[in-house]
Amino acid sequence: MSLLDKHKFIERNATLLLVGSLLVVSIGGIVEIAPLFYLENTIEKVDGMRPYTPLELAGRNIYIREGCYVCHSQMIRPFRDEVERYGHYSLAAESMYDHPFQWGSKRTGPDLARVGDRYSNEWHVQHLIEPRDVVPESVMPSYSFLKENTLEVTDVSMDLKANRIVGVPYTDEMISEANADLKAQADPNADTSALLARYPKAKVGDFDGDPTKLTEMDALVAYLQMLGTLVDFSTYDDTTGYR
Ligand code: HEC
Repeated sequence: MSLLDKHKFIERNATLLLVGSLLVVSIGGIVEIAPLFYLENTIEKVDGMRPYTPLELAGRNIYIREGCYVCHSQMIRPFRDEVERYGHYSLAAESMYDHPFQWGSKRTGPDLARVGDRYSNEWHVQHLIEPRDVVPESVMPSYSFLKENTLEVTDVSMDLKANRIVGVPYTDEMISEANADLKAQADPNADTSALLARYPKAKVGDFDGDPTKLTEMDALVAYLQMLGTLVDFSTYDDTTGYR
């Protein structure tokens, strides 16, 4: 059989062609994917990553509940325009404690991977109450009810435990102190030294402008304010990454 005849034979035999294509595609897939499990730098070694504080975790749950990811991604791609606008491209290490991750694929609004520290708490609260007060042309919906809703978390330590099961390194102490830490982080009068020792770089104090009440707004703003702020890029060697 000549080469041309062999080609014709395969092309005219639908099952054979299907099996052949699957074989070729899976070889390609294995070659690309399998090394990721063995390469040491698939998840970069970085300084500064820590699990979410209980309040940030509660805020993250609200972020997911309200579907913020429908309009916002949390992944800065290694392209010049994105890096100039949003900051250093996202590292895999930065979402290693995210269950589920929030990379997203839709950007009706800007990427939020490094929105932490970019605006004041007051700006976030006003923006979430009525986006058009601060960005007149905004199409983002109002989430003013978050400021009315008291944060109802019966036992946040359950959430930490669930995350520990899937690999987040919460310690026994973090779990036993979780409910106290949740309240302390948003209470301007609380002693937060133990909380800060457990969760370095956590933002503490009142977030929603009402120190007397712990609201869903407190939790969501605490979460937004830490996004992208943990990794210490001064000690990160990115010569192995994309440029
Ligand atoms: C219908 C799409 C949509 C949804 C849903 C949405 N947003 Fe937005 N968001 C936008 C748009 C558009 C902008 C840009 C205009 C503006 O700043 O309001 C924006 C801007 C933002 C900004 C400012 C980002 C920056 O770098 O300036 C933050 C923070 C934000 N959104 C948070 C949230 C949170 C938190 C939620 C969920 C509670 C949410 N958004 C839900 C569309 C949306």
